[in-house]
Amino acid sequence: MLQIRKMVSEVKEEEEEAGEKVWIVAEERNDLRRWAKIGRAALAAGVLGALLSWALVCTSPTRKGTVVVKTPGINLGRKRWGIAGLGRIAYDFAVSLKANGGHLEAVAAGSLPNPGSRASDFGCRFGARHYGTYEALAADPKVDVVYVATTNQLHMDVALVFVRAGKAVLVEKPTGLDAPQALAMLREARAHGVLLATNFWNMLFPVTRWAIDVVKSNKLGEVLAARGDMGFEAVDNLHDRFLSPELGGGAMLDMGCYIVHLFVQLAAINFERKGDVARLPTRPREAYEFSRAKLRDHFEAPLRNASRPLASLDGLARVRATGHLDRRNDDPVDVEASAAVELAGTRLLLGTSLQRASPFTFDVLAAHGTLSLDSPANCPTSASAAVYRDANDARNNNTAPTPCCGQPRLADLRFASPIPSYPESLKPERYPRGMGFGYVQTAVEACLSTPNCLELPEIPAWTQLATQQIVDAIIREIHQTNDAF
Ligand SMILES: *[C@@H]1O[C@H](CO)[C@@H](O)[C@H](O)[C@H]1NC(C)=O
Ligand SMILES: *[C@@H]1O[C@H](CO)[C@@H](O)[C@H](O)[C@H]1NC(C)=O
Repeated sequence: MLQIRKMVSEVKEEEEEAGEKVWIVAEERNDLRRWAKIGRAALAAGVLGALLSWALVCTSPTRKGTVVVKTPGINLGRKRWGIAGLGRIAYDFAVSLKANGGHLEAVAAGSLPNPGSRASDFGCRFGARHYGTYEALAADPKVDVVYVATTNQLHMDVALVFVRAGKAVLVEKPTGLDAPQALAMLREARAHGVLLATNFWNMLFPVTRWAIDVVKSNKLGEVLAARGDMGFEAVDNLHDRFLSPELGGGAMLDMGCYIVHLFVQLAAINFERKGDVARLPTRPREAYEFSRAKLRDHFEAPLRNASRPLASLDGLARVRATGHLDRRNDDPVDVEASAAVELAGTRLLLGTSLQRASPFTFDVLAAHGTLSLDSPANCPTSASAAVYRDANDARNNNTAPTPCCGQPRLADLRFASPIPSYPESLKPERYPRGMGFGYVQTAVEACLSTPNCLELPEIPAWTQLATQQIVDAIIREIHQTNDAF
């Protein structure tokens, strides 16, 4: 039986990202509860009552016939999903699954005060079986893949319940609380031959794929640096999960990891290009040396060989960070972080916070151009790139590529891909762009339909590990610089 380290109240479970603080469907839910109460009374009255209560409790918009939104790039319905941890993000994930044509088989709440009742409300609403423990969901033979949406401190333990039962797992970010947890999770998944992916859903958005294709095409030349800022003002409550050390809070684990993960993937593109990396003479020596090895092999080594420890960052990555800790707590988490990171010669400037608004932008700064994901960059619907010099044209070799004082650009590129909107019968609890979960859901189903697929090509195991290692280093440095003050 899983040890639940912390009881949390219903509203404290997984609330991700900035945005709506209201429960859009609060009213609807109250209605549902009222009907549920009436339904339960009927149940006590007998068998006829039980039938009546089923009709009442489970009469929800999703059962009345959900309109399935058809969006290019979203193709669901091939696999049967379970959800573990039934907070707001789980609700919106379920809405996206249903509205995009997916199949939600069963749900479980295990760490809430009344897991049975939350699970039964949730299950009825989405026409799914419901369980009061994660173990019961893990034992359901009809579930192919489980989305783990518990609070951060439970990610590892709960994910492992499903991995050990042979289920594929999509775990909400961060992978675990730190890199050793992430490694333990990925090792166990490999040992059981199942997929374990972290829900960096931004990676599957068409706009993110376009940005990565532009960088890979070499239109912008070598990536030298990236810059990202994502943060928001969290509820000013010590016991809120965002700021709670017991629940795995902190700005880096909540938002900063998005920026680090995208950066890790961009830095790796420099090594994938023909002609290899390090054409610029200013690159540090370790980048030249490392270009002969493969970033992926380096971080993946402990997955292929269980006697190997986590890959060393020495000589490969440098981290400098400062920030603010939540001083109201004895065991404070980072509420504000600024970091400079260098990975194999590519640099990142990162900002994140749980106490201020943020532009939610992410920019790529390359040798011959720039690229920007429009806000909010963690679920972007548009992006643009400016090309200042043709990276492949020798005639332009001596033309200074400069945007200063309005010198003409060679090209302006732009791409947009709107998120499908929710059907009228289904509304999210929190995330207006939650229908975009359909992209990562599609990627998971595609992987599960492919023999021996143990990772999503867009969120490979090594980037999950590298991200968590860099995030750990940033958090450590914030604590050190704070202690030095
Ligand atoms: C696994 O790693 C250990 C420790 O680095 C090493 O001694 C051993 O040779 C490796 N095994 C294989 C099969 O590569
Ligand atoms: C660009 O100029 C440099 C130095 O002037 C030269 O070494 C290099 O070969 C040139 N590159 C191309 C593609 O012509």
